[in-house]
Amino acid sequence: MQTDIGIFEGNKVMNFNGIEFIEKKRDGLPHNEEEFHAFIEAVMHKTIPDYQISAWLMAAFLNGLDDDELIYFTLALAGSGKTMIYPPEERIIDKHSTGGVGDKTTLVLVPLVAACGARISKLSGPGLGYTGGTIDKLESIPGINMHLSEDEFRGQVDKIGCAISGHSVKLAPAEGKFYKLRDVTGTVPSIPLITASIISKKLAGGAYGYLFDVKCGSGAFMNDIEKARELAQKLVEISKKLGKECVAVITDMEQPLGEWTGNSAEVREAIEILSGSGPSDTRELCLTLAGHMLNMSGRAGTADEGTQLAAQALDNGTALKKFEELISAQNGDSSVARDPERVLPRASSVCEIRSDRKGYLSRLDALLIGEGLRALGGGRLTQEDIIDPSVAIQLLKKVGDKVCQGDVLLRIYYNHDEQLLSALSYVNKCWQVGDSAVKRKLIIDMVY
Ligand code: URA
Repeated sequence: MQTDIGIFEGNKVMNFNGIEFIEKKRDGLPHNEEEFHAFIEAVMHKTIPDYQISAWLMAAFLNGLDDDELIYFTLALAGSGKTMIYPPEERIIDKHSTGGVGDKTTLVLVPLVAACGARISKLSGPGLGYTGGTIDKLESIPGINMHLSEDEFRGQVDKIGCAISGHSVKLAPAEGKFYKLRDVTGTVPSIPLITASIISKKLAGGAYGYLFDVKCGSGAFMNDIEKARELAQKLVEISKKLGKECVAVITDMEQPLGEWTGNSAEVREAIEILSGSGPSDTRELCLTLAGHMLNMSGRAGTADEGTQLAAQALDNGTALKKFEELISAQNGDSSVARDPERVLPRASSVCEIRSDRKGYLSRLDALLIGEGLRALGGGRLTQEDIIDPSVAIQLLKKVGDKVCQGDVLLRIYYNHDEQLLSALSYVNKCWQVGDSAVKRKLIIDMVY
């Protein structure tokens, strides 16, 4: 693999007037490519103060960016650090989820599509929020190295077709600066700013095609379907304009995905799916996403054909074998694939939540469950917090399931009584039993 150094590494500093730049966006006028280049250069050279960057972010939040501006901004962010370069004929695929509770799809998809012959390069950012990220989840496996060097990362993709790592290369560093400022200036929920943030990191990662899983619901960034659709459309539109193959799938995050939330518990559930079992809706989602990834990689003529290939790999053991290979290549205890109960930690104290009436589960709020998990130590409030991989919340009923009075709805696996008390303040409010059965649709829409 080659890497390209950032476009702002040299000493060249363009003329840039921060006040004029802000005023232009304040007045609803478009910026050109050179202006974005100069802006990001000023950010990288720290010649523009944070208060001016913040003022521009608010102007962009209120007045938006048109597609040309979005492309110039995204390219300038992507070029602010190293860019990984793969030969296009390798058709490397990358996947991005906008994040949710119980989302273990990456753990399944990476070995699954590699088992079907595709190449997948997955660089993940650190998890911050109610649950751990992919890196935190895999770090439940003893010995595993989730911070590969560039050479190790590329060598592994060449050798076994897949690798998952935290960012060891500083990809799109200017984006990190913008993200931190957006977080404290009320400018996170903007479709153009989110689009530029996500695609700039994908571009710097060097893949040929992207699969976006845009989550929608209480446990997601986008709470309503209109906003989720708008984001999915913009991600696809801009990726295509930048010459990338791309599909976005909008999926339900009103309730958590699957039966388990919690870092080691989600690895266990991913292993179940890779072994050909596990919750049927989660398996179906993984197969749908894998179908599109295999189609983009050229391993399948259509997404449906890709889904069939992937189903065979789950059922004939090759996906699990690839998972074992992946864990072993990254120095983890690969016996986890065959004996997850022995290898993965699980908190020993259990608290059960039972239904006080009969009916059908009508609500299982993903956000409250995510907050409950964080209160148990399974997620972070600050980047410095240490995750407890062993805590978990098991969902024994999902929305639409029949419930009898006294049935166990949820099990909380915890290590400290005070953490349990704090978690209960969320979990006790997360469910509702009603009179009618309404199942939720997991795959809401697709955007090509
Ligand atoms: N995820 C990102 O990477 N960036 C955003 O702005 C929002 C979600």
